[in-house]
Amino acid sequence: MSDDLTRILAIETSCDETAAAVIAGGTTMLSNVIASQTELHARYGGVFPEVASRRHVEVIHAIVEEAMREAHIGFGDLDCVAVTRGPGLVGSLLVGVNMAKGLAVARNLPILGINHIEGHIYSLWLTEEAPHIRFPVLTLVVSGGHTEMYLMTDHGRYELLGAALDDAAGEAFDKVGRLLGLPFPGGPAIDRAAEKGNPAAFRFPRAVMEGGHGYDFSFSGLKTAVMRQVSQYHSPATMPTADLAASFQAAVVDVLVAKTAAAAEAVGATAVHIAGGVSANRALRATMRARLELPVRVPPPALCTDNAAMIGAAAHFHFIRGRRDSLDFDVVPSLQLV
Ligand code: KG4
Ligand code: ZN
Repeated sequence: MSDDLTRILAIETSCDETAAAVIAGGTTMLSNVIASQTELHARYGGVFPEVASRRHVEVIHAIVEEAMREAHIGFGDLDCVAVTRGPGLVGSLLVGVNMAKGLAVARNLPILGINHIEGHIYSLWLTEEAPHIRFPVLTLVVSGGHTEMYLMTDHGRYELLGAALDDAAGEAFDKVGRLLGLPFPGGPAIDRAAEKGNPAAFRFPRAVMEGGHGYDFSFSGLKTAVMRQVSQYHSPATMPTADLAASFQAAVVDVLVAKTAAAAEAVGATAVHIAGGVSANRALRATMRARLELPVRVPPPALCTDNAAMIGAAAHFHFIRGRRDSLDFDVVPSLQLV
């Protein structure tokens, strides 16, 4: 079978989205189905692991069936099953991995266990810009659990240039969202609230830029500074929420853009890719594009946050290079890319 006809069923259950997708030729989405649990977790103000894994169990079969139905193919038309094996919540990962293993055995299909971060990186191959991608590419992965900058020199080859020393960017958005009394998850809520705010209203710290730790990031001092400011107000009603949201967001974006620009120049990257949930942030996209001369590529919003299509895209490049995993691989909650 030629590479372009390779069809992969991908499953992603690393956190609170139950997702399945069918990818053809690595770049074409025949289907991409996502059941979000956001509403289920909103009452806890964060993802509740036990609740997440139970919900995955309840819906995974229906989601996989839906992905196959939308792709208009049968299991006999598949070449491979791919699944996220880490990083993520152990109970959530196990549901997807066990489902994938069951399918691989029952349908006699090869299986690939994929790194979730590599999935985010490959979300860029699902965009119409995919044919223009040339290595080396500087990729910034900014999600709820990760803030990492990689130099990607070829398919599957990464050098870690920098990472969050404390809170990930998305985690900072979610924590500050809670401080500001915004709904969970904080990232999209701050993005919306910031629209009506003044980003220069408060001068929050750009810690790592001023401290100068190479390409690493630190957002916990920023979160503390917002907390200190919030404590000045006697009630939520008197709090300038939009200004606080815009000023916090500007501080995060400034650091991400400054570090990315410096790294991209230092390593001679052909382009900058941004992936992961926080790459949906409109200020981050706009500022990165305004300040960098290189092409800046970002997936459409639906492919920024967790999905299975990106897992299928990453799996494709392993599959066509001959990789096959044995059925006894385990989930790895703290799996590293490099
Ligand atoms: O990639 P993702 O769906 O899950 C992880 O792998 O962590 O990322 C989720 C994170 C959350 O922290 C959420 O608040 C953040 O992405 N996020 C955003 C936006 N949309 C999602 N952060 C800032 N602005 C957004 N528009
Ligand atoms: Zn993710």
